[in-house]
Amino acid sequence: MERRKFISNICLGCIGITFGGAALNSCSQMKSVNAFAQEGYLVIDKSEFIDKDSNKEFDSIIITSNSLKKPIILFKTGRDTFEATSLECTHKSVTLDLVDAQLVCSAHGSKFEKNGKVINGPAKRDLKRYSVDKTISTVKIKL
Ligand code: FES
Repeated sequence: MERRKFISNICLGCIGITFGGAALNSCSQMKSVNAFAQEGYLVIDKSEFIDKDSNKEFDSIIITSNSLKKPIILFKTGRDTFEATSLECTHKSVTLDLVDAQLVCSAHGSKFEKNGKVINGPAKRDLKRYSVDKTISTVKIKL
């Protein structure tokens, strides 16, 4: 009886490590920043694109806010250029994932380019784009 319980615990531990590791791995791929609206803009410090531990630069970050129904993905497209695209699928509003440089809907398979253009349906409309302003130290997404 003790041996059976021991083996059962070992198996559950292996499953936890396998799936927990996969979840952590996918979470660590995208940085998420919660932004507050100020005078019609979401303001993000440009330093958010730098990983403080590794000093590595992110080429995109997820922006969440109480002012948004769904997150926005903010891409760094050049040395000091940025683009912001909604992660709300235009088919039935599911939140999209960034997969191999495309925005992909896990619900029914729609795919979009990073600039929001539809690649595959069932979604027919492009994603919402946001205009972006900058200061020396911040990126401002116009709501
Ligand atoms: S909700 Fe995205 S494809 Fe249907």
